[in-house]
Amino acid sequence: MIQVNGNYLKLKAGYLFPEIARRVTGFMEINPSADLIRLGIGDVTEPLPNACRQAMKLAIDEMGTVDGFRGYGPEQGYEWLRQKIAQNDFQARGCEISPEEIFISDGSKCDSSNILDILGDGNRIAVTDPVYPVYVDSNVMSGRTGELEEEGRYGGLTYLPISAANNFEPELPKEPVDLIYLCFPNNPTGAVATQEQLSKWVDYANKQEALILFDAAYEAFIQSEEIPHSIYEIDGARECAIEFRSFSKNAGFTGTRCAFSVIPKTLFGKSKDGKLVELWNLWNRRQSTKFNGVSYIIQRGAEAAYSSEGKSQIKKLVSFYMENSTLIKTSLIEAGLKVFGGDNAPYVWIKVPEGMDSWTFFDYLLQEANVVGTPGSGFGAAGEGYFRLSAFNSRENVQTAMNRIAAL
Ligand code: MLT
Repeated sequence: MIQVNGNYLKLKAGYLFPEIARRVTGFMEINPSADLIRLGIGDVTEPLPNACRQAMKLAIDEMGTVDGFRGYGPEQGYEWLRQKIAQNDFQARGCEISPEEIFISDGSKCDSSNILDILGDGNRIAVTDPVYPVYVDSNVMSGRTGELEEEGRYGGLTYLPISAANNFEPELPKEPVDLIYLCFPNNPTGAVATQEQLSKWVDYANKQEALILFDAAYEAFIQSEEIPHSIYEIDGARECAIEFRSFSKNAGFTGTRCAFSVIPKTLFGKSKDGKLVELWNLWNRRQSTKFNGVSYIIQRGAEAAYSSEGKSQIKKLVSFYMENSTLIKTSLIEAGLKVFGGDNAPYVWIKVPEGMDSWTFFDYLLQEANVVGTPGSGFGAAGEGYFRLSAFNSRENVQTAMNRIAAL
């Protein structure tokens, strides 16, 4: 009989969001008429920006003509999209990133997992705790961790706790590490990192010859002028960091799928025999073999996010969700809860009331308010005692959810 990948058997029972869905389905079977409000998974709810939709429609019509038809696109993404990204997201902020260093993909979830393909098995890995579960699970699946240990942590990983006690700022690892996952604005805590805090990481990584995997999927939600949007705003980051970006949350592409990774040509790793190897070459090789690109239609939609119409529609979308975030934050404070995040990110991170743990609070809100959130412990042991609410929903639903919580 064939053998399975035993690493999968080390995984905790289920991925966090399907586990929540399972509990919610169970609740709905017993309470079919419950008017549930979902502030759990960070999935957008507002329609796609008109500029993106119009561009996609045009692209579909082009595909219906002999001259406009396109088959396989470049595995790296179309040059015109890569150029817009390089100019608008990086060069406009003083970051020296070229279109060639941008690889279009179908999601940051995929990119942040797939990147392990080009990295050796022996790297020592650091993740924050709590953390976006994909970073941990993809390392487990590819055999880069030990077994699941007490508190739901995996052997072999270096966990960097983030909590109110350290202002959600991870400390530098005490033992040397090679790979560091950082996510700012942070999922799940909603915390952001200042220029100074990011410089600390870039300096550390350059000194250790480590690589930072920087997830900036929520950068569009940054409101404070002084917070960097990209790790490349920090001197030295081109030598030590890969950045992941996405159109999912800012332009509402969670169902449409378009994202990108930035792999500077100045990043190197070592082969077993000590030779320097350019990471860009390996990723380019990986994508050429395993990926056929994002569809032309979707890339045209993403390109339209950079038109002046697209930019202003996206700004409105982001403001809309951030107003939700403020509403959640202020309502919960009024309800007597301690809350964090939510100012520069679409996530509000809540300290659960005394005497409850994260899953108890999940069940309590589900049963008593018919509101679905995400238990902090699902993001890691140090997330125990916290709870995440996402700002991605209609104003009406967010307001109703807050009224219900206030009435508890
Ligand atoms: C979340 O809720 O944490 C996000 O939906 C995760 C994701 O974007 O995959």
